Amino acid sequence: MRFGTPLSNHATKVMLLGSGELGKEVVISLQRLGVEVIAVDRYANAPAHQVAHRAHVINMSNADELRALILAEKPHFIVPEIEAIATQVLVDIEQEGIAEVIPTARAVNLTMNREGIRRLAAEELQLPTSPYAFAESLEQLQAAAKNIGFPCFIKPVMSSSGKGQSKVDNVAELAAAWDYALASGRVNHGKVILEGMINFDFEITLLTVRAVGANGQVQTFFCDAIGHKQVAGDYVESWQPQAMSEIALAKARDIADKVTTNLGGRGIFGVELFVKGDEVWFSEVSPRPHDTGLVTLASQYQSEFEIHARAILGLPVNTACHSVAASAVIYGGLEAQGIAFEGVAEALQVPNSDLRLFGKPESFAKRRMGVALCRAESVDLARANARESASRVKPVLG
Ligand SMILES: Nc1ncnc2c1ncn2[C@@H]1O[C@H](COP(=O)(O)OP(=O)(O)OP(=O)(O)O)[C@@H](O)[C@H]1O
Ligand SMILES: [Mg+2]
Repeated sequence: MRFGTPLSNHATKVMLLGSGELGKEVVISLQRLGVEVIAVDRYANAPAHQVAHRAHVINMSNADELRALILAEKPHFIVPEIEAIATQVLVDIEQEGIAEVIPTARAVNLTMNREGIRRLAAEELQLPTSPYAFAESLEQLQAAAKNIGFPCFIKPVMSSSGKGQSKVDNVAELAAAWDYALASGRVNHGKVILEGMINFDFEITLLTVRAVGANGQVQTFFCDAIGHKQVAGDYVESWQPQAMSEIALAKARDIADKVTTNLGGRGIFGVELFVKGDEVWFSEVSPRPHDTGLVTLASQYQSEFEIHARAILGLPVNTACHSVAASAVIYGGLEAQGIAFEGVAEALQVPNSDLRLFGKPESFAKRRMGVALCRAESVDLARANARESASRVKPVLG
């Protein structure tokens, strides 16, 4: 592939749908390769907007608005960064040969709905998952819970970052979980998945890459396993590598290979897995960089964002890790526009630390506003230092 000059009539153009902190790093990686980047989000001055050649604010769930923008910008590649997109438009655009959707329109469509990806993984690919059932009413949910047992998780089929999700310990809690799921689902589909709880030792994200290899064909590459800690369905810490048995690692790679090969295309995927001893269960997959993979900014020669950029463009990738590292999330803590951060210099006094402040125009108490990254000799020290560094950053009113 030839690379044109940005902003000329032969530019190589990428359109990012969703312009959060993960997209911002993807844009920076693309910019370094001289690619013209168009960043789209539903609000102005989103993180990736601030580093792209052009920024657009549209409702990406609106099929007409989305299609009109794609036809006006004529990107070569469309890179979804979020799930709340009118995915049928992407299916059409791909079919009409107007642009290439990363990794594929089908992958984006399947993974935005827990039912699509769960049925693919468990029923078609026969991969181990938690026991599950779908319910479209409280009665159905109660019947499903009777079968699967407690504790269990109730999740809207369309949601991410733990929204609308509850852990339920007994029958009495089902009604509240049903109401909560319906109220917080992204699009009110009136459908939930009930999953039996897996009593795992730890959970990992296995970043899996489909990129053109030395033989000119798309091949599968794996990053080292990332361990992470979730609080209320949202990641608060991650580290790489996560130690695990040879057998578990082989199973994890086999699962990730099967899922990503089925989804196809090129790009990075975040395959979420639960591990107990030598046993591994598939949980879900993002067909894009994963939030827990922010740690790769410190641990790998090429971060997950650089790898994604390269895979999109048909370039070779390097998934090797050079250091043990950890990330710790910095939350907004307050609800206000245009906040400020104190303690940044103090945070960076922590040995081998680095920081990302995402530049989000509005802070919420539980909104991820930045991340601290630390390298160290051991995972324990990297985690402790990343937590310390993150804790020194103080969000204050602007
Ligand atoms: N069946 C389960 N057994 C055990 N733990 C679970 C189960 N389902 C979810 N969890 C816990 O809740 C977390 C969030 O679940 P899940 O990944 O399905 O939600 P999500 O909304 O897609 O979150 P995200 O978008 O951040 O990945 C998991 O990482 C895990 O810690
Ligand atoms: Mg998840």
